[in-house]
Amino acid sequence: MKLIVAIVRPERANEVLEALFMAEVRGLTVSRVQGHGGETERVETYRGTTVKMELQDKVRFEIGVSDHFVEPTVRAILDSARTGDVGDGKIFVLPVERVYRIRTGETDQMAVTPGWPEEESR
Ligand SMILES: Nc1ncnc2c1ncn2[C@@H]1O[C@H](COP(=O)(O)OP(=O)(O)OP(=O)(O)O)[C@@H](O)[C@H]1O
Ligand SMILES: [Mg+2]
Repeated sequence: MKLIVAIVRPERANEVLEALFMAEVRGLTVSRVQGHGGETERVETYRGTTVKMELQDKVRFEIGVSDHFVEPTVRAILDSARTGDVGDGKIFVLPVERVYRIRTGETDQMAVTPGWPEEESR
């Protein structure tokens, strides 16, 4: 299992959500974050040149997936989040040691993918 963390432009977030849905990704967490991607703005001060770190608004996706889902998930994000300009964001793929579904106590593969519980309609 892996945790895919993607930082994308807020204006691409809806496209990313749509692409993830099309890739059959269901369980995810989205947050508004601020970040810095390495671009620096030089600011002159009376003591010399300093560098200003400007924070930019970004959207962070966290998606826990089985290993065979990593490639299609990453592909969906790459294709939907890219504009080609600097600041398009990043994707990190992290190893996941254990997943628990709290409702059932299921773990790992059984817990990572949202199921379609048959009892739900009862
Ligand atoms: N190494 C990093 N660690 C954590 N977050 C990062 C890292 N690099 C970028 N980010 C996050 O991704 C956002 C967008 O980064 P950005 O796309 O500018 O990366 P970049 O490496 O500068 O690529 P580009 O050259 O396309 O701008 C940042 O605002 C920050 O939130
Ligand atoms: Mg950058």
